[in-house]
Amino acid sequence: MADKIKLFVNGEEVEVEAGKNLIDAVGAVGIEIPHLCYHPALGADGNCRMCLVGIEDGRPPLVPACKTPAQEGMKVLLDAEHIKKIQHDVMEFELINHPIDCPVCDQAGECKLQDYYMSCDQKPSRMTVPQVTKNKKMDFGGGVIHDQERCVVCGRCVRFLRQITKTGELGIINRTDDARVNIFPGRPIDNRYGINVVDLCPVGAMTSSDFRFKQRVWFLKKASGVCHGCSKGCSITIDHNKEKNKDDIIYRFRPRFNGQVNGYFICDEGRLSYKSENENRLTAAFIGKVEREISDVLTAAKKELEMSKKAVFLISPDASLEQMVAVKALAAKLGATLSGYSDGYIKKGDGDDYLIQDDKAANRQGLLLLGIDTTKESFEKAVSEADLFVNFASDLSRSYEQDALTKLLTGKKTIVCATHESAFNGQATITIPVRSYSEYSGSVINCDNILQRFEKAVTKNNELLDICEVAAEFGCPLQTPAEAYAELQQVIGMLKEYQPATIPAEGLNLNDSEAANVTA
Ligand code: SF4
Ligand code: SF4
Ligand code: FES
Repeated sequence: MADKIKLFVNGEEVEVEAGKNLIDAVGAVGIEIPHLCYHPALGADGNCRMCLVGIEDGRPPLVPACKTPAQEGMKVLLDAEHIKKIQHDVMEFELINHPIDCPVCDQAGECKLQDYYMSCDQKPSRMTVPQVTKNKKMDFGGGVIHDQERCVVCGRCVRFLRQITKTGELGIINRTDDARVNIFPGRPIDNRYGINVVDLCPVGAMTSSDFRFKQRVWFLKKASGVCHGCSKGCSITIDHNKEKNKDDIIYRFRPRFNGQVNGYFICDEGRLSYKSENENRLTAAFIGKVEREISDVLTAAKKELEMSKKAVFLISPDASLEQMVAVKALAAKLGATLSGYSDGYIKKGDGDDYLIQDDKAANRQGLLLLGIDTTKESFEKAVSEADLFVNFASDLSRSYEQDALTKLLTGKKTIVCATHESAFNGQATITIPVRSYSEYSGSVINCDNILQRFEKAVTKNNELLDICEVAAEFGCPLQTPAEAYAELQQVIGMLKEYQPATIPAEGLNLNDSEAANVTA
């Protein structure tokens, strides 16, 4: 627990965390000090002067809050006339050459310059000379488009590429009116985290080539998700929207701060992986190659399960803990062998020493915690002895070439629960479309043993079944999400103190307690 100190803001006493600068300290208790260049992940640069505040202890009349540590008893002035005036003056300075093209700017609605103009300024321009015009659309590479006119030269983007990715593709060239952010000649942004500069930019000077002009941000609904692109499980915000007469679709993933997992950032591949939640989705149910009503298909699947003498279930390493525990309970009831084999999800050498992991599975730790076997030998042996193979959304094409898979499954009946279209679905005896992770809520455990909860973001016009619901249809003893969660609480001791809604946003660190608490 961090030490607390007491200080005064506009004469009101507030208790804040020690060891932080004024922006972060009072920001944590809901008092915002306007700022543009400061970002907690990048440190204080002190260049924008938007954060100037007064301190009543004989210091200079104005100090930058980003560079001023919060101290016991400090008397901070935010609402004095001279502070309001300096904020207005800085705004006026920032806006001298700003194009004010908010109606066509992607940042409108989440722009700090726009917000501060409304909260600190609201004055008309006094400028009578023409604005300095600059380049409106520069392709910086890496999916980043730059508008020099909108740039307030705060340097966040430059510092990110120097301090975090250490690739240094951007610099600020020239001074005063001529100051411009630019790439070096012939050296575009070229790293796996570059699009974070779009989130970092406090104004609309950095836009994503993927997102720009697709949606006004105020139409987007937000849900707390966990990226399923690799086993890091970065916390994300899923921005989605259902336009009139259309389906609910996802427009972007953005990083959601999580000090235990990903800090403020995510990788570009994970960010753009929202597309696979929209595209190539399996939405129809089949018996053989014939499309049928889902009720008929479930009846046929249940018959196959009843007739089977020896079944093998395969569960995806991307499945939630709730889905895993439900499928495990179903397998136990029906006497089926359960496997989590998924070696093909591991791309050796692809990870780095920052966020990206070799393992592209979101919940392999869940398989291990629940004691689900993941070895190839056991899986192939069980399949060779079985008459029925049921795949709960594992992408076998990652582990097998099509021919090898056909050979492995020759002579078996196959029931496939799948989120996406694939060649393998077409060969199945029965195919059941199921929801993907943006369409249900659940929990996953990342590679560092952090258990995170994610919420259902998307509700499709034609809602598919969740794997838990399919398992329940097949006779799983855990018939509801509450029963599945109660079972998880038996396995993961730490969960006994929490209900799904009370699991902290930053997740639960299982490292300290679970070695002793796992009962699976
Ligand atoms: S592009 Fe954005 S982040 Fe970069 S210096 Fe300009 S305003 Fe700051
Ligand atoms: S590092 Fe992994 S979990 Fe994080 S955003 Fe990238 S793919 Fe997703
Ligand atoms: S945020 Fe303090 S000077 Fe920019």
